[in-house]
Amino acid sequence: MANKVRAGILGYGRMGRGFAAAMQESGLWEIAAVYDISAPVRELARQQVPGVAIYDRPEPIFSDPAIDVVGLFTLADARPQQIRQALASRKHVLAEKPIAADVATEWELVRAIEASDRFVAVNLFNRNAWYHKDIRRFIAEGEIGELAVIRICHMTPGHMPLEGHDPEGPPFHDCGMHYVDVARWYAGSEYKTWHAQGLRAWGYKDPWWVQAHGTFENGVVFDITQGFIYGHLAKEQPHNCYVDAIGTKGVARMRHDFSEATVELYGVHEMLRKTAAFNDKKLDLMVDVFARSVLTGENLGFPQARDSVIASEVSWAMLNDAIANIPPVRGTPEEMQQILEHRRRLVNGFGLPVRMQELSDLPLAPV
Ligand SMILES: NC(=O)c1ccc[n+]([C@@H]2O[C@H](COP(=O)([O-])OP(=O)(O)OC[C@H]3O[C@@H](n4cnc5c(N)ncnc54)[C@H](O)[C@@H]3O)[C@@H](O)[C@H]2O)c1
Repeated sequence: MANKVRAGILGYGRMGRGFAAAMQESGLWEIAAVYDISAPVRELARQQVPGVAIYDRPEPIFSDPAIDVVGLFTLADARPQQIRQALASRKHVLAEKPIAADVATEWELVRAIEASDRFVAVNLFNRNAWYHKDIRRFIAEGEIGELAVIRICHMTPGHMPLEGHDPEGPPFHDCGMHYVDVARWYAGSEYKTWHAQGLRAWGYKDPWWVQAHGTFENGVVFDITQGFIYGHLAKEQPHNCYVDAIGTKGVARMRHDFSEATVELYGVHEMLRKTAAFNDKKLDLMVDVFARSVLTGENLGFPQARDSVIASEVSWAMLNDAIANIPPVRGTPEEMQQILEHRRRLVNGFGLPVRMQELSDLPLAPV
C-alpha cells in the first residue's frame, strides 16, 4: 500500500489555498498539480506550492495516472463537469459544496457517484467538528433524554451581495446549507415541514437573513437562523453562532466566536463545560480522514455527497419559502454601498484584504 496520496487541485481560491495548506502540513499528501482559470491566482500558486505543475486547463490533471485524488475547489457551476470527468478518469474526489448549482444536476451526480467505486467526499465541515462530536456522543448516552428541539443560529457580518459566490446562491443556501445539514444530522431524520421568513436587507433582491422552523419525520422540531447582516458597520464585529439541543431531560449546547468554541452539556448525571479552538473549517481533519480512507480502501467517516445534496435541496426550498412569504425590506442601497466600501478596507487575520480572499463567514478585524 502506498503511504501518500497524490493530489491535483482544481481552483486555488480561498478554499483551494486552505486545502493545499492542510495537505502540505499533513504527512499523507503530495500535491502534484494546481489548475486555476485565473492567471494571477496561478502565479500565487507557483509561489505558495513550489515545484508542482501549474496548469491553465484541467485535462493534464485528469489524464495523469499518477494522480489519485482531485480537489474540486472552484465554484458550483464548474463542479458537475469536473466530477463527471474525475469519475471517468478513475480519480477519487474531495469536493467543496454544493456539488452543482441546481438540485436536478446534484441528484444526477449522486447517482453517478454512488454507482462508482471511487470515493467522493464533500466538505460538510461541521461533521468533522470536535464540538458536534462531543454533543452527539452526550445525546447518544441518554444524558438529555429524548432529543426534542434543535435550534441553530449562524449570524455574522459575512459575505455581502456583489462579492462573488453567485452560483452558490444567497447566504441561506451558500452558508445555510451547512446548518440545514447539521440540524438533520442531529435529528437523525428527514425534514417533514417548514415555514421560513426572510428579510431583504438594504433593498437587495435576495433575502440576506432567513429563519426557518418546522418538523422532522421523527417529531424533532427545529429552528435555523442564518444571516450575514450582523453588525457589518459596528466598531467591533459581533457574531452569534450556536447550537442548542434540547432534550426531554437535559440540554446540550455550544457557542463559538470563530476563535474558540465552548460546549456546555447539562445532563442528568453530569454537567460538562469545555472550551477549545474553533479550528475554522477543520481542513486538517478532512484531508486526514480522506487520505486514510483512500489509502486503506475503506470510508473512515468522511462526509458524503448524498448528505450535501439533501442539505442543498432543503435549503433552496426553505429559501424559496422565505421568498414566497414576501420578505420585507429594511435599510437602503446606500447603506449596502457603505458596507461594501468598509469591507474593502478591512483585513483579515493574515493581513489580506477581505475581498481578495472572498471570505464568506470568517471573523474580520478592521485595519
Ligand atoms: N465548506 C465550506 O465551509 C465553504 C466555505 C467557503 C466556500 N466554500 C465553497 O468552496 C468553493 C470555493 O469557494 P471560495 O470561497 O474558495 O471561492 P474563491 O472565489 O475564493 O475561489 C474559487 C477559485 O476557483 C477559480 N475558478 C472559478 N471557476 C473556475 C473554473 N471553471 N476552472 C478553474 N478555476 C476556476 C477562481 O479563479 C478562484 O481562484 C465554493 O463552491 C464555495 O461554496 C465552502
